[in-house]
Amino acid sequence: MQSPPAARRPIAPLPDMLVSQIAAGEVVERPASVVKELLENAIDAGASRIELRIEEGGIRRITVADDGIGIPPEELPLALTRHATSKIGSLAELERVASLGFRGEALASIASVASVSITSRTAGADSAWRIDARSGALAPAAGTTGTVVEVADLYAQTPARRKFLRSPATESAHCIEAFRRVAIAHPEIGFALVIDGRRTEQWPAGDWQARSLAGLGADFRDAHRVLERGEEGHGLHGLLGLPTASRARADRQYFHINGRFVRDRLLMHAVRQAYADVLHGERHPAYVLALTLDPALVDVNVHPAKTEVRFRDSQAVHRLVFNAVRDALRIGAGTGPAPGMRMAGPGAQSAARQLPSRSQDGLGLEVPAAGVTPAVFARHPDDGSPAAADRTMAADRGAAPGWPAAAGWAPGLAGIRAALAAFEPADLDAGASRHGAAASGDMPPLGFAIAQLHGVYILAQNADGLVVVDMHAAHERIVYEGLKAAAAKGVESQPLLIPVTLRVDEIAVRCAEEHRERIASLGLELDPISPTTIAVRRVPLALARADAAALARDVLDELREHGSSRAIEAHRDELLATMACHGAVRANRRLSTGEMDALLREMERTASADQCNHGRPTWVQFPLGEIDRWFLRGR
Ligand SMILES: Nc1ncnc2c1ncn2[C@@H]1O[C@H](COP(=O)(O)OP(=O)(O)OP(=O)(O)O)[C@@H](O)[C@H]1O
Ligand SMILES: [Mg+2]
Repeated sequence: MQSPPAARRPIAPLPDMLVSQIAAGEVVERPASVVKELLENAIDAGASRIELRIEEGGIRRITVADDGIGIPPEELPLALTRHATSKIGSLAELERVASLGFRGEALASIASVASVSITSRTAGADSAWRIDARSGALAPAAGTTGTVVEVADLYAQTPARRKFLRSPATESAHCIEAFRRVAIAHPEIGFALVIDGRRTEQWPAGDWQARSLAGLGADFRDAHRVLERGEEGHGLHGLLGLPTASRARADRQYFHINGRFVRDRLLMHAVRQAYADVLHGERHPAYVLALTLDPALVDVNVHPAKTEVRFRDSQAVHRLVFNAVRDALRIGAGTGPAPGMRMAGPGAQSAARQLPSRSQDGLGLEVPAAGVTPAVFARHPDDGSPAAADRTMAADRGAAPGWPAAAGWAPGLAGIRAALAAFEPADLDAGASRHGAAASGDMPPLGFAIAQLHGVYILAQNADGLVVVDMHAAHERIVYEGLKAAAAKGVESQPLLIPVTLRVDEIAVRCAEEHRERIASLGLELDPISPTTIAVRRVPLALARADAAALARDVLDELREHGSSRAIEAHRDELLATMACHGAVRANRRLSTGEMDALLREMERTASADQCNHGRPTWVQFPLGEIDRWFLRGR
């Protein structure tokens, strides 16, 4: 069957309204896009306070009020005209644009698919003026200096588009996320959010750390590291969630470039790669990262919503982000907040505060502590300050007073209780006096060992209370980091007095022959002595006490799995991790107090030692105040 030939229509320019509606498809996907555009306009206007109101998920109404420079009445019609902007006037200006907007089309696009009015007053003007986009009517109105943009009945005129909107609740969630993205990037501005008449967020202007913490929620407050590279206004700053604050979805990742939220593949890859060593499997890190650089080095005119960018030197940016994030995550155990738990009391951060500045460790970092300035927090009603955390915890425990309610604690509790019952107070005192008073300034972050529990955990006393260490997991990380450091220089190996032989299949033998040098670079000498036998002649010094045959078998298995030598290079760290497992102390090995203390000190020195190689916490802090509360003992 043949369709009739289409009647030819002469080429004609599209009507302006239709052009706008087509353009709107690029910029105004849903209410959240309107939120983003209006907030960005308010920021470009130099506002110091911005309020966003949304009704029925923003479908019914979105209002943004700012106290910025305003728009003079004669320019109000232009604000709604496509390709009219006050932000750039030439190609040269476009190439170094520092404002968030520059296309001159957001308001026109929005006005083509919704009812829009703008009320604005410039400083020194007698009154505000209001323009109605649909009718073009312009009239004096009441209003203070600044601008209020109201967008109502989104897509009411274009029902086909409206069908694509989800429920008000879903759209509302997207609007809140758009608000967060903008507000986290602009801590210098106070933001308020009102949803269906209820004020849900009130973020006063403050420093970037406080803003990020306000934006990322409670889990994050207790488990993050601070990254500071370069100066304010030029460099990379951020808060990096620890593995314990990781998420099943990549929904708490905020990357800002020059105050603009972006979702850029290159940057996301750099961060992901930097986390690879501490975050295994399917988990996604939570983070806020702000990159500030010369606008001429980054092109934001790639995507209508400006969420993708192009860098002049993308390799350099990738390197910077990767190195900075990796280094910030690679600090010794006990120097940040305790992993694996909510920070429970004012004392919980003191270990971190007592540490000498980490800038001495060659990582080029400042103090990595949870570093929140109480003064900043004092302005927030429920702000993540230690006191607020205390209040929250007290509330959480309402049903069963005295016992921690967080689910994650439950498995550990029986053991802890048993351990506490087993201790004579004298033991604790002996531990303290052995090393000087617990309160003294030279108590190391993870404290001193007091006992071993069931051959699995080390119990230690530090300035804050009780520390419980998963001995194998912690040691595994230490051995792994040691092997990696050694591998970089050429692993030191040690000959076995009596070579160990193992029977394997022929493929394994060929694998050992083929990769002889690579295996040697891992500090392992495997010598095929028959078509089905291999002799282990040397092992890495760090693994001298490991079961050599089991170690060789695992390494050969991994090599076979990864195949080509390029793949082996790429999986080198995994190989080392496999080897590390063999070198780490096994459960049920009795450790002397001296050995346990040595392990604690080693943890403090070892990068990323807060997590084992699989991203699980290696230690947990139980603050004394918390333990007191278990026993209903007030202090
Ligand atoms: N809240 C505001 N305060 C002051 N001026 C505003 C405000 N919102 C918009 N304007 C003015 O209206 C103009 C048009 O805004 P619009 O958002 O449509 O374009 P833009 O911000 O210039 O570029 P883009 O399309 O990239 O957002 C702006 O250039 C600005 O001069
Ligand atoms: Mg704009």
